[in-house]
Amino acid sequence: LKDERIAGIASAIRVIPDFPKPGIMFQDITTLLLDPKAFKDTIDLFVERYKDKNISVVAGIEARGFIFGPPIALAIGAKFVPMRKPKKLPGEVISEEYSLEYGTDKIEMHVGAVQAGERALVVDDLIATGGTLSAAIRLLERVGVEVVECACVIELPELKGRERLGDKPLFVLVS
Ligand code: PRP
Repeated sequence: LKDERIAGIASAIRVIPDFPKPGIMFQDITTLLLDPKAFKDTIDLFVERYKDKNISVVAGIEARGFIFGPPIALAIGAKFVPMRKPKKLPGEVISEEYSLEYGTDKIEMHVGAVQAGERALVVDDLIATGGTLSAAIRLLERVGVEVVECACVIELPELKGRERLGDKPLFVLVS
């Protein structure tokens, strides 16, 4: 994506080496949130892309999809649906597992939050291996929702997460 706002967004993201483990370069979006211009530009770029696309669901992934998803949902007139880590949602849930380097993880969504035939956007701060987003897509598709696209602020392209999404489109601001 070519837009003069991208450079400001990229420079507002702080990189913290060796967090949470040695060798990991943590992409910290909390500094982006401290910069009202960069935060607003981030939301605006997504809203410009997704308004008028007939999207009725913004599904946000815990935890940082809960920061970027709701302002997008409000601006495009969609509902916000949290996709949470296991055992956090109080109602009846459906869940989807995904594999990690060692072991598996799971995300959950409330039954009845979405209806078959709705059009959804999935939002998170970052795609690494793509495991989380691919599980979110499967979860929504299992209940008959059409996932229009996934949107992230940051992509780590060397981890090839995009490939794990198959032919599902992925839109990112910063690579
Ligand atoms: C990070 C990030 C994404 C996920 C991406 O969350 O915010 O949700 O990992 O990784 P993947 O593409 O390899 O699946 P994290 O695991 O740090 O959880 P948190 O947001 O609850 O801190």
